[in-house]
Amino acid sequence: MRKMRPNSAPWRAAAVLASVLLVGSMAACGNSDTGGGSTDDGKITLGFSQVGAESGWRTANTTSIKEAAAAAGIELKFDDAQQKQENQIKAIRNYIQQKVDVIAFSPVVESGWDTVLKEAKDAGIPVILTDRSVDSADKSLYKTFLGSDFVKEGRLAGEWLIEQKKTASGPVNIVELQGNTGAAPANDRKKGFGEAIAANPNLKIIASQPGDFTRAGGKQVMEQFLKANPKIDVLFAHNDDMGLGALEAITAAGKVPGKDITIITVDAVKDGMQALADGKFNFIAECSPLLGPQLMDLAKKVHAGEEVPARIETEETTFTQEQAKEALPNRKY
Ligand code: AHR
Repeated sequence: MRKMRPNSAPWRAAAVLASVLLVGSMAACGNSDTGGGSTDDGKITLGFSQVGAESGWRTANTTSIKEAAAAAGIELKFDDAQQKQENQIKAIRNYIQQKVDVIAFSPVVESGWDTVLKEAKDAGIPVILTDRSVDSADKSLYKTFLGSDFVKEGRLAGEWLIEQKKTASGPVNIVELQGNTGAAPANDRKKGFGEAIAANPNLKIIASQPGDFTRAGGKQVMEQFLKANPKIDVLFAHNDDMGLGALEAITAAGKVPGKDITIITVDAVKDGMQALADGKFNFIAECSPLLGPQLMDLAKKVHAGEEVPARIETEETTFTQEQAKEALPNRKY
């Protein structure tokens, strides 16, 4: 074989090729140091398990997460659990098997997560809870919880009602449409509302049933409430969609929503805000679904091994009919 002279053209070409290969292999080592779960292109992979598509709120939340992932350059693996805890557990196990970098989910119910969360922890994959929390005693099973204070939302709804009914001399009959059984917003909104209205013994919850956060559920349960109770003064619905479904039942029963029956809901999605501006709802406690950008920021931080606050509370407000009229033109969802 012919020998290459140092500094000859073939020698220089071989030297350039060798240094390119060396830099390439160093970069590859750098990637695997970032935690082993990144894709080859260096992108963070986030596995997200969504509750379902039960409400306008949920649709806006899904859109926010998908758009924010694309904007942040995060590869999103998305699964819709169709309201079933077993589907969420299956999705989380798939993400663990796929060795994603970070797992996030919005738990359909509060309990029953310890085993799968432990599996994620053992696999070294950080978990972020978004929108809803879990009741696990071991807080080391997840890095942070980003979402609303649902007890506060219920309390704000109850305090508004206390103020409206402060001169009521007789009983004020309230019916309550709860979210799906066992969900954090259903448990917490019930609690906050109940605690607030306890300040006036005239205010009484005469019936309370789950409507599963859906319009169909709200309509069906409200029909039953109306049949069983001749005097209903107030409806507290745990979300706008159930309130909107209930409107149909109330109108069909020959009553005027917002007048014959005072209607209080939670969320403040566009359709709910329209009903409020139109005088069919009376008050809404806001629950913001726009969690995507904060979630992506947290995913980057936990992937980099940075400390993050254990609880990040979403900023929210409340709306009266007048405030809804003002806010509607600029409402994003
Ligand atoms: O967890 C948030 C709640 O879930 C929203 O209030 C409701 O609309 C949704 O389905």
